[in-house]
Amino acid sequence: MISNWLTTTFGIKYPIILAPMFLVSNDKMLIEAYKNGIIGCIPALNYRTPEEFETALKELKINCDGKFGINLIVNKSNIHLKKQLEVLVRNPPAFVITSLGSPEQTIKLLKPKGVKIFCDVVDVEYSLKVEKLGADALIAVNSGAGGHAGNIATSILIPMLKEHCKIPVISAGGVGTGAGLLSALALGADGVSIGSPFIATIESGVSQEYKQAIVDYGAENIVMSTKISGSPCSVIETPYVKKIGLNQNLLESFLSHNKTAKKYVKMLTYYKGMKAVENAAFGATYKTVWVAGPSIEFVHKVETVQVIIERLINEYQKAYDDLCSKNQKS
Ligand SMILES: Cc1cc2nc3c(=O)[nH]c(=O)nc-3n(C[C@H](O)[C@H](O)[C@H](O)COP(=O)(O)O)c2cc1C
Repeated sequence: MISNWLTTTFGIKYPIILAPMFLVSNDKMLIEAYKNGIIGCIPALNYRTPEEFETALKELKINCDGKFGINLIVNKSNIHLKKQLEVLVRNPPAFVITSLGSPEQTIKLLKPKGVKIFCDVVDVEYSLKVEKLGADALIAVNSGAGGHAGNIATSILIPMLKEHCKIPVISAGGVGTGAGLLSALALGADGVSIGSPFIATIESGVSQEYKQAIVDYGAENIVMSTKISGSPCSVIETPYVKKIGLNQNLLESFLSHNKTAKKYVKMLTYYKGMKAVENAAFGATYKTVWVAGPSIEFVHKVETVQVIIERLINEYQKAYDDLCSKNQKS
């Protein structure tokens, strides 16, 4: 057991969040996370209708003893936000992670229900804003994260946020080993949020091809592309990704900066990109756009969620013991 703010807040054994991943996370993964001493989070958008979302929340409440989180996209691109919030008010989870926008409304509606509100952040300025609004913790998305990554390396971002903010900091990005977990905690993180390594699990619902790609490719094959959503997103450099290039073409770029066209172009880019990601996640297509971060480097086969958690904890213990014995010798 590792005892800190995250473990005592949720009554879990290890300070790890199984990170929310669009299209990838599912109920089975959350239940396995709960059974194995960590806590999982799932994007509300992974449920197709508010009814499906509400049913899942009721079942997760029973199957995870209430220990799970929901991720909400809180900007205008999420046309289901109002409905999702209504469902969450009726079925409050342990925590909510907000991304891509202001958490104000989420905090107002869900904090009184006892829900902890965590916010995705990439810098100090925004962290101070969400702290002022009443966020309970920061999800510090660093430059090594899978999905929409930040610009700042973990070794800088965590101490920087700890210096300026009072609320706890959860480090998101680049943890693929127990030593990685130890180093994030040593830097001052109150927990870590791990995504990419869990894509290649028996429980995840994505295609075998996607899972195998997580095994076959490594850190050197991860590139940042603005083609997918308009913002930098980490993807595996498959032949298709190489072919389409990483940046928007001149016309796309011109239109996305044009005052009148901007809104529509951004929405269209996002929609087209997400459709491509969805097709590649579930089916066989030559248009392989697989979202993942460099921590896939340490994935060597498709395993269960339980095996990955056990490996991380054993490695953590070994890294900790090695460090202590080295210090004693010197
Ligand atoms: C395939 C994939 C999908 C993701 N989808 C979301 C999402 O829907 N919402 C969100 O807040 N973060 C999303 N993320 C980011 C993760 O929640 C987490 O911050 C990230 O995976 C941490 O970095 P790691 O992959 O190195 O562990 C996604 C990441 C991946 C790899």
